[in-house]
Amino acid sequence: MSKALFIRNASQLVTLQGSSKAPLVKDAMSELKIIENGSVWIEDGVIQAVGTDSELKAKYASRLADAEVVDATGKLVTPGLVDPHTHVVFAGSRENEFNMRLQGASYMDIMNAGGGIHATTRATQAASHEQLFAESYERLNQFLRHGVTTVEAKSGYGMEWATELKQLEVAKELNEKHVIDLVSTFMGAHAVPKEYKENPEEFIDLLINEMIPKVAELGLAEFNDVFCEFGVFTPEQSRRILEAGKKHGLLAKIHADEIEPYEGAELAAEVGAVSADHLLKASEKGMKAMAEKGVVGVLLPGTAYFLMAESANGRKMIDLGVPVALSTDCNPGSSPTVSLPFIMSLGCLKMGMTPAEVLAATTINAAHAVNRASEIGSLEVGKKGDVTIFNVPNYMKLQYSYGVNHVDTVVKNGAVVVKGGQLHEKLLVSKN
Ligand code: NIG
Ligand code: FE
Repeated sequence: MSKALFIRNASQLVTLQGSSKAPLVKDAMSELKIIENGSVWIEDGVIQAVGTDSELKAKYASRLADAEVVDATGKLVTPGLVDPHTHVVFAGSRENEFNMRLQGASYMDIMNAGGGIHATTRATQAASHEQLFAESYERLNQFLRHGVTTVEAKSGYGMEWATELKQLEVAKELNEKHVIDLVSTFMGAHAVPKEYKENPEEFIDLLINEMIPKVAELGLAEFNDVFCEFGVFTPEQSRRILEAGKKHGLLAKIHADEIEPYEGAELAAEVGAVSADHLLKASEKGMKAMAEKGVVGVLLPGTAYFLMAESANGRKMIDLGVPVALSTDCNPGSSPTVSLPFIMSLGCLKMGMTPAEVLAATTINAAHAVNRASEIGSLEVGKKGDVTIFNVPNYMKLQYSYGVNHVDTVVKNGAVVVKGGQLHEKLLVSKN
């Protein structure tokens, strides 16, 4: 039996208990199920008990001397944060485009002129597996320092099979070697490659008949995603791509209504997507359809911030009953950040969400968005020992004191991996 880990006496222990079956909606998004003076006992990587410190102290009285203790007095303890939408496996960076956009160029103009996603695709095609692994590994370290213990990762900077495969294989190796868990998504439909510009149907055929079946056969992804956007993939093409994925067992996700209103939210509900992401320009009809079908709305206010656009209407979506999650969208073009806590602040300040709602949106609802709610996203007996400890006394202060990394300690599978805000030496060994 491995040594037990005893996290003791948090001023607030945010448990979110009872939320594993279905994502939280409406008022339930504010019910964090907080225990004051709360403690957690973790053993063999799994949560064994959650309660007040005096309850757990009594329960484990005979074993206290042998346990590793983390004193959380005066601190906020939450489930390890979950980022349900990233493009973390990429090469290079695009600060030159940032500079161009600040001088008036638009994101889509840059992309249509061969930059944007195409620029990162060239860099990712040119990078070796080892380079791509090393760059992405470092980003995962930064995610961990910001309290994130699970990350969804999309391919999509390949646009041809060899590079899509390289990205997916790097994600697989990262999942094996980095303590963060990765949930893999195939996003071959990220843009239409230039050579297919005149005949996008040929590329779609390639996706549907060759790439999607191969990805599924190799077991390299759980989800299939498409950039449904004016000038990229139409709703009709997106539907076919998502249905093809479903046929091969890949769950659907969709980049919907990001730049222009395009009925992406409606499509997500129609195909039974697990999540529809972005939604800056989603219609009310689309939001209602998502609410009815329980499609998680993954909102990415960092992208709106970075593209200097109006954020999605998170308040309205929650009021209409859409289960909302939040994510960084970590990518080199529209949101080069790993700071999920900063995204939570934007959720409050730009989308009218409350500090309680943004916490539900980055834990249990984010876990639902990646189909992992039975394992992570809340502090409950039987779930993974993934815990983040912040150097603030309550959850409201986490957002109030914005732009600061308050992470003190991160526990992954019951092991301390960040201590005093720094990566712990244990991280240097493989998680297996
Ligand atoms: O989620 N919208 C499409 N894809 C990414 C951006 C990718 C890039 O610019 O490199 C997004 O915003
Ligand atoms: Fe994205």
